[in-house]
Amino acid sequence: MEVIILDSLDEAGELAAGAIADLVRRKPDAVLGVATGSSPLSVYAALGRRVADGRLSLARARAFTLDEYVGLPADHPERYRAVIERDLVAQVDLDPAAVHSPDGTAEDLPAACEAYEQALAAAGGVDLQLLGIGTDGHIGFNEPGSSLASRTRLKTLTAQTRRDNARFFDGDVDAVPHHCLTQGIGTIMAARHVVLLAGGEAKAEAVHQLVEGAVTSMWPGSALQLHPHVSVLVDEAAASRLRLAPYFRETWTGKPDWQGL
Ligand code: GLP
Repeated sequence: MEVIILDSLDEAGELAAGAIADLVRRKPDAVLGVATGSSPLSVYAALGRRVADGRLSLARARAFTLDEYVGLPADHPERYRAVIERDLVAQVDLDPAAVHSPDGTAEDLPAACEAYEQALAAAGGVDLQLLGIGTDGHIGFNEPGSSLASRTRLKTLTAQTRRDNARFFDGDVDAVPHHCLTQGIGTIMAARHVVLLAGGEAKAEAVHQLVEGAVTSMWPGSALQLHPHVSVLVDEAAASRLRLAPYFRETWTGKPDWQGL
């Protein structure tokens, strides 16, 4: 796990977009794992700039979202499918038909989860997975207690996550769904490269547990310690509880550019 402490999430966004650009140069039809939430927004903005000025094309790339609410009407603006179309697809030249998400409106939710796993496998798996992290340590919507081997399935959101996400529902926690479909931790672990972004003091404990805590389902992000290629991009506030911060700074300062993420 490589931890990079940066001045801002904007810098993190540039770095992550650079890694995606390198990947797409090598493999134009790369499979990107994309996340909702505020953390990856700087990545999407940086990708948008690169596409706009002709440095990058995602026209042949494919994308899979991490998770989706259950119980929101198909036309609700906070469905993650709609969020990813607004935050990412509208800014780049991805083909909307190449963007996949779990179907939270399906009649048969277990079948929708199984179909999603099959679609991921048929695409050859995720090359680069963008991730945020919840204040309770969730990745995707894998709340504390989630199986570290889990695959895409139906989950119940914690009260803390519903409170955190109320800001997207005009502050009304009662409007936040109780259920979701999410890639499992095992699904996320199958991605070939994971790039996690976190900013702000509210994420400091989750980042500390992810990087320096024991591997435990109580802090689902800690499972990433078992992944061979993880880049954790954090701002100073999110890094504020890292005991190894001086070491991570020294490592990053001495890293030659050619190594990339
Ligand atoms: C949400 C999403 C996660 C996201 C997390 C953090 O609940 N399901 O994928 O990483 O919360 O969100 P943010 O980046 O807005 O803090």
